[in-house]
Amino acid sequence: MQSRVMLGLTLATLAALPAAAQTAPADVVFNEGAIETSLTGAPGDAAEGAKVMASRAMGNCVACHVVTAMPEASFQGNVGPALDGAAGRWSEAQLRGIVANAKMTFDGTVMPAFYKTEGYIRPGDAYTGKAPTGPLPPILDGTQIENVVAYLMTLKD
Ligand code: HEC
Repeated sequence: MQSRVMLGLTLATLAALPAAAQTAPADVVFNEGAIETSLTGAPGDAAEGAKVMASRAMGNCVACHVVTAMPEASFQGNVGPALDGAAGRWSEAQLRGIVANAKMTFDGTVMPAFYKTEGYIRPGDAYTGKAPTGPLPPILDGTQIENVVAYLMTLKD
């Protein structure tokens, strides 16, 4: 019994750790649109980032951007520029800033802010048609943002 309580506490502590290590959306510091340091304090995983970008349920970046290196992602859109060669045009810090909140780089862009919880208009509580009562969770968490940035850094030409 005692050991089960201890195990529960240990698991709860472990579950809380990654979240605590991430920079919260409201604490992110933008420097002319760029975010200098990793939101998680660790480098991202490019292969995981590719999944986030291609997934309709997550980043869905390909709905607006062509990524030639991702031929398996169907129905790529051209609302935004092709991301081919993005790492040659932007630094890692600039790409992190664009993915977290593109409005800090491109004034008035239609690109969603993926790491933001308040201060803009978003659909309300899912499908209820009611305005949200508090801050909404960001579309992507810090780990997913870092994974996407790691993938974008592979798009050199
Ligand atoms: C609703 C459409 C839309 C979605 C979804 C979207 N973007 Fe964009 N993105 C744009 C537009 C439009 C621009 C051009 C900036 C502007 O508005 O002038 C842009 C610009 C960019 C740029 C700079 C382009 C360059 O190479 O010079 C990057 C990098 C980028 N987006 C990455 C992403 C990533 C990564 C995702 C998914 C996590 C994403 N975008 C999702 C519309 C979108």
